[in-house]
Amino acid sequence: MIRRFPDGFLWGASCSAHQTEGAWDADGKGLSVQDTRPRDNHDICDFAVAVDHYHRYREDIALLAEMGAKVFRFSIAWTRILPEGTGAVNEAGLAHYDDVISACLEHGIEPMITLYHFDLPQALEDRGGWDSRETVEAFAEYARIVFERYGDRVSRWLTINEPNIMLLVDKKILGRAIPLERKYQQFHHLMIAEKLAIKACHELVPGGQIGPVPNISIVYPASAKPKDYRASLYFNAIRQWAYLDFSCKGVYNPLLLDYLAKKGVSIEVTDADRELMAAHFPDFIAMNYYTSVTVEYPEDASNMADGISDQQSEDIMDAGFYKGFTNPNLEKTQFAWTIDPDGMLTTLLAIEDRYRMPIVITENGLGAYDELTAEGTIEDDYRIDYYRKHLTMCARAIESGVQLVGYSPWSAIDLVSVHEGMRKRYGFIFVDRDEADEKQLARYPKKSFHWYQGVIADNAVDDASESKEGVA
Ligand code: BG6
Repeated sequence: MIRRFPDGFLWGASCSAHQTEGAWDADGKGLSVQDTRPRDNHDICDFAVAVDHYHRYREDIALLAEMGAKVFRFSIAWTRILPEGTGAVNEAGLAHYDDVISACLEHGIEPMITLYHFDLPQALEDRGGWDSRETVEAFAEYARIVFERYGDRVSRWLTINEPNIMLLVDKKILGRAIPLERKYQQFHHLMIAEKLAIKACHELVPGGQIGPVPNISIVYPASAKPKDYRASLYFNAIRQWAYLDFSCKGVYNPLLLDYLAKKGVSIEVTDADRELMAAHFPDFIAMNYYTSVTVEYPEDASNMADGISDQQSEDIMDAGFYKGFTNPNLEKTQFAWTIDPDGMLTTLLAIEDRYRMPIVITENGLGAYDELTAEGTIEDDYRIDYYRKHLTMCARAIESGVQLVGYSPWSAIDLVSVHEGMRKRYGFIFVDRDEADEKQLARYPKKSFHWYQGVIADNAVDDASESKEGVA
């Protein structure tokens, strides 16, 4: 069965600056916390060269155009624009993204730009990072500079990539743990910074639209035990609704407040913050989804790792509230992430139920050990299978009334995974380099590239499910 997408559906592909660009100190760029990130594993590459997208963006964008992409989601490296995070503007950095935007537009691709994707300027980090109000002001200043420069050519913007995952999976993303007392003041600062960016976008970008970009994945209870269900309710609130409630409703989620009160954590919120929160709202929700989450109530706090055999659950534990639990009903990727297309449909329905706003999926994808054959092909049928199943769920969500307007999966091109280096590949385009050897960084479209090209051209996907009546 063929499932068609609405006319004008926004087909795209995504990436971030630090995972693709390399050129870590080119043309006046300052250091970011990703350049300086402490690392336990030195067998995986860092972001110094990445896939050299900084120098090869023309070739990469031409390939995305060949694939049929209508939109390219990428992030701007704040440290190229403001090397010290604030103060002196680096014209060479601004000019670089002028060129990237022009290359997109020449190919008929809409640039959709994330302001900030895990790469805070190190100079700001040295002065307190997201603990400090100064970073909030600096982010607002940076956002205004970028909107003023590119607002005539870029109308769709994304604020801060996955603030929820940055705070919950701090060790893997930033290389260091943030103590709980500071985490939620950082949450507040990140969310206020986002509000300032929303306000600035609406003031400075004619017809501008802007959305938050959390990672949203429905949280299941491990069983029908009452406490397991309650654990899932709290973790749903802490992991995701707290972020979307702040962005889209301008309020603090009540279960987050209860959690913080029980943990003895207080947050400094000013009257001006309260006003700002309730005055500026996004135009759409961008969300990243890889898999669902399952939690149980931790009866035995001495054995928090019990029942966990997937990579994503190992970071989820909080005695007295919840702990991760590997869902036995789901398959896993080669990197032990569970695969749950049904969970994507449920997540989309839950967002529609709570927020009733247009949604763009800005990340979804499969990290795998791809291989380049002697013939120069990459036979990634497993990725096609993953996408087909998830796109089927997107189509079903739209049929059920979810306002899903676009799908821009991860990733456009192979890039350096957040903590697994080059070996874990996500792209539609293979980049020939490995952890230690940069080789020629040659590009090869994968089998999934050609498959996705067909999906975009047909504006339809061949249904992967045995879909039944009702909710099945
Ligand atoms: C998302 C991030 O959380 O997950 C991306 O926004 C990241 O930056 C992606 O690459 C996949 O995670 P990982 O750890 O496999 O790179």
